[in-house]
Amino acid sequence: MKNEYTVEQLLERVNTVKIAEGNERVRALSQRIVSDLFKTIDEFKVTPDEFWAAIEWLNALGRTGQTGLITAGLGFDRLLDILADEADDAAGIAAGTPRAIEGPLYVPGAPNSAYEARLDDGTMPGQVYVMEGVVRDINGNPLAHASLDAWHANEHGRYSHFDPEQKEYNLRRNITCDAQGRYRFRSVIPPGYAIPPTGPVAELFQALGRHGNRPAHIHFLVSAPGVRTLTTQVNIPGDTYIDDDFAFATRDGLVVTIENVDSPAGYESLGIEGPFARIRFDFVLQPAASEEESKHLSRVERVTA
Ligand code: DHB
Ligand code: FE
Repeated sequence: MKNEYTVEQLLERVNTVKIAEGNERVRALSQRIVSDLFKTIDEFKVTPDEFWAAIEWLNALGRTGQTGLITAGLGFDRLLDILADEADDAAGIAAGTPRAIEGPLYVPGAPNSAYEARLDDGTMPGQVYVMEGVVRDINGNPLAHASLDAWHANEHGRYSHFDPEQKEYNLRRNITCDAQGRYRFRSVIPPGYAIPPTGPVAELFQALGRHGNRPAHIHFLVSAPGVRTLTTQVNIPGDTYIDDDFAFATRDGLVVTIENVDSPAGYESLGIEGPFARIRFDFVLQPAASEEESKHLSRVERVTA
């Protein structure tokens, strides 16, 4: 009977069979995930049709490159932030601007400029804003020449590089702060974001009876030597979904205040000619425990490095 198995025997064999050491970590994670899936299939009496439909859905998810679009909605991205916050709390090093999820839509290599930048190309309708502030360490010292990536959605809630309608690096810039750690940039206030209306991601959230909306937000990746690279987002106040983000990523302390400024005085170099909205925001970065922690690398770059 050596090739006949009960469920338990099959699981044991799947999880232990090997002809080489393999990767210990991958083996351990695979064992747990396969065990949990065996249990789910057994307990819920998953039928073969349901099982193969799920595999077809996974294939479609991969084919459309949308796998990164389900993780935030299922809470995984925020989970990783919560665990990182808990680790900081436990180590007594929690400080500075809260981290918030990178999301799947970062693109490295955005055009760089010193101190100030314009993110939009003049075609996006809406409220012109300037966001400005200082990048500091936790003692309040400015971080000279800190690097800041900013990116956000266009008027349709879509991101360049993932939307064939937009030019390369539209609404994406990298700024090198000045010697006082200051940055500023001009753009147009983005609306909220919604997951693509059709395809495997939409199918999943429909089946879960959930919406796929994120409140209006602006993403940041900020770094400087000696401090820990910060990935975060700020939210535009007043959005319908501010406390109902499908990605669970809104955080206290990251909802900005918008000031209405009447005069463009002092903002001429950004091409501001009339009244505009101003957002002031300082980024506060924790000390880095290693050189690795202060690299200006996004999650996307770390994974592909
Ligand atoms: C998703 C989209 C975003 O713009 C974002 O910031 C986070 C997640 C998403 O589609 O999962
Ligand atoms: Fe986003």
